[in-house]
Amino acid sequence: MGALRETIESIRKAAAGAFASATDAAGLESARAVYLGRKGRIRDLMNLLPQLPPEERPESGKLINELKQEVTRLFDERTAALAGQTKPRAAGEAFDVTLPGIQPRLGRIHPLTRAMREIVEVFSRIGFTAVYGPEAESVRNNFECLNMPLDHPSRDAFDTFFLKDRTDVVLRSHTSPVQIRAMEAARPPLRLVVPGRTYRPDTVDATHSFMFSQVEGLVVDARITMADLKYCLDQFAKGYFGSQVRTRFRPHYFPFTEPSAEMDVSCIFCGGQGCRICKKGWIEILGCGMVHPNVFRAVGYDPEKYTGFAFGMGVERICMLKHGVTDMRLFFENDLRFLEQF
Ligand code: DAH
Repeated sequence: MGALRETIESIRKAAAGAFASATDAAGLESARAVYLGRKGRIRDLMNLLPQLPPEERPESGKLINELKQEVTRLFDERTAALAGQTKPRAAGEAFDVTLPGIQPRLGRIHPLTRAMREIVEVFSRIGFTAVYGPEAESVRNNFECLNMPLDHPSRDAFDTFFLKDRTDVVLRSHTSPVQIRAMEAARPPLRLVVPGRTYRPDTVDATHSFMFSQVEGLVVDARITMADLKYCLDQFAKGYFGSQVRTRFRPHYFPFTEPSAEMDVSCIFCGGQGCRICKKGWIEILGCGMVHPNVFRAVGYDPEKYTGFAFGMGVERICMLKHGVTDMRLFFENDLRFLEQF
């Protein structure tokens, strides 16, 4: 019995010391595990009880229980102290309600996620639905059905990351393959946007990355014209950047649209006067065009019956423009000093 009392006293002292020297919740928790845990010192003592002579067991059990209560109390006290409320306040004791509280650190949405959500939100106001597709995509959807057969020169710039042992699956180089998936899954009318990640063999610099985000769009119905394209995309530019922006369309080439264009918005920094950031007052923000008849044929739509327009934009670029960010890499480095500004 004497030996047990000594052991109990030494455990009590050691636990009190360990709790007192814990300076944060994690430290206190590991100390708790050592003494009060399922494999802790007090549990070990309990496990010894059956080995004691029967007449000593009741008294020993009681002592160990008291130890457990005492150590639990010490733990609770230290928990409270660490939480900043040293002792329970006595009735009537003054409490300074003007003391600043403990401010929890708030998380926030990544600026790119937010930009994507905002873009989708603007389109949803004019009747677009968001759909998603896989990042590992078939060569058929990423290239072939988009009017880029194997020997098409456009494929060079996109020739992207193939998956091990497969020549028919790539990390998609754009979100356009989701057009194919959507058209094969439904019949017109279609009005959809596709936010997502894309991959290209680009060398990383301030404006390029091997991984980036796009938002794709597709509208298909009978009698869709270029006027619909221009109206929708102009509405988007005004909805996203502000009603003062103007848009212009320049002829361009994409294999999956004909005719194709790039859309510029009037510079959001100088209002269109011309400044360091824009090209003589205009900033390019997306590619677009009327869906190529071959794309419709690839998914079994009759190009005589349906027409449509499509567009694709780089989210990093648009987000950089909106917030005046000059280096794309900042989005990917997880530096809270940058991310907390959004
Ligand atoms: N897929 C193109 C790219 O990654 C962007 C694009 C341009 C998408 C025109 C379209 C489009 O749907 O019609 O550069």
